[in-house]
Amino acid sequence: MTLAELLPTLGDSLRGKLEAGIWPRSVRHGHDGDLMFGGLPLSQLAARFGTPAYLLDEAEVRRRCQEYRRALHEVEIAYAGKSMTCRGVLRWIAEEGLSLDVCSAGELAVARSIGFPAERILLHGNAKTPEDLKAAIGYGVGRVVLDSLDEIEQLGALARYPQQVLVRVTPGVDGHTHKAIATGVEDQKFGFSLASGAAEEAVRRVLAQPSLKLVGLHCHIGSQVSRVTSFEEAARRMVGLMARLHAEHGLVLPQLDLGGGHAVPYLPGDPDFDLAGFAQRIRCAVNYECAAHRIPVPRLTIEPGRSVVAPAGVTLYRVVTVKHGPSRTFVAVDGGMSDNPRPSLYGARYAVRLVGRRAAKGMRAVTVVGRHCEAGDVLAQDVPLPEDVHAGDLLAVPCTGAYHHSLASNYNMVGRPPVVSVCDGVARLLVRRETEEDLLARDLG
Ligand code: LLP
Repeated sequence: MTLAELLPTLGDSLRGKLEAGIWPRSVRHGHDGDLMFGGLPLSQLAARFGTPAYLLDEAEVRRRCQEYRRALHEVEIAYAGKSMTCRGVLRWIAEEGLSLDVCSAGELAVARSIGFPAERILLHGNAKTPEDLKAAIGYGVGRVVLDSLDEIEQLGALARYPQQVLVRVTPGVDGHTHKAIATGVEDQKFGFSLASGAAEEAVRRVLAQPSLKLVGLHCHIGSQVSRVTSFEEAARRMVGLMARLHAEHGLVLPQLDLGGGHAVPYLPGDPDFDLAGFAQRIRCAVNYECAAHRIPVPRLTIEPGRSVVAPAGVTLYRVVTVKHGPSRTFVAVDGGMSDNPRPSLYGARYAVRLVGRRAAKGMRAVTVVGRHCEAGDVLAQDVPLPEDVHAGDLLAVPCTGAYHHSLASNYNMVGRPPVVSVCDGVARLLVRRETEEDLLARDLG
């Protein structure tokens, strides 16, 4: 037994403390600088599945589903499939009793292939194609969230009564997030503006379609939103609109969907989303506004994606080379913006950790870059790594379960990484690595 094992606190300082809140709960220190993930050493997973590889902690995903259901027991929880869709994950989501938000015929095809209950599926999208709409009707999805006047007419013509629909409203609420993922503010492509009266006009158009049954309203103010007050404000405004529709059309809408967007911590010290506070304040806001306007309280739906899967994911990379520039050190790995475009798209920041061996020296700040042909292909800036980091080392990046696999590309004809689920010491390949044969298969010459 080593001294570090005898004295756990000394062990922590020798090994470098695991940053709280950004690793899945199953992650533990292993032997010789390794980390245990779902009961297996990361170095073993890298040897078995290669790098880069997306790992997902199944127990963490399921725990997060259960946490949502417990905190918001009367609320429908619809997992936003755009954050991470593959059959394995959608099976967990179905088994945990969540509903599912899909936004294309492709996402729906994955859900359909595992028999995800159609009545628990909502179809989203600001520009649904006729194929999307037909696929949704063909599978009998429970609700379509209408996003344009054209779509109201198209779905009206294609659907058979009673196709349940919601109208997506832009409530004019700032989620205080990156502008590329702020969707609640005016003057953008999503939804019908509340302020301009477009939302009320959309409702009138839906009511004129005999095949459509309007069951509620929807809004989604943005993604990676940490301020509960923004959600509260959106809920208040949406209930205000429901009250106006009640007064004007005698409409009693039984559902209100408040979208997703709950933030997660990516870096040590980032605040976690206050789910209990959210549950309590949203409930209060909706109940209070409904009472004030004398309308019945609708059943709420929320659509978390990131907060269900992001913290369950870790990506493994192998260091290819270390280059010392005049003012910084570049640690280049075997992945990059093709498996994680989030730093280049949203300026997202990540933590990085050396795993699989003990560092012989102290730490220094480095820039972890990818293998792609762009100077902007940076995975993590100014992150501490051991001074002796070298080619062949294994690096682990936490909080990569959402919008990594789903945003991945084949840039530079690089195959996309596999998705591996790990639970109770058992690893299972959910999505295999993309091969050169896969890349050539669609190219007909
Ligand atoms: N509902 C709707 C209608 C949405 O558009 C989205 C996300 C969600 C729910 C789920 O939001 P979440 O809980 O995952 O934040 N690629 C970006 C995020 C784009 C989000 C798009 N819509 C990123 O990597 O940060």
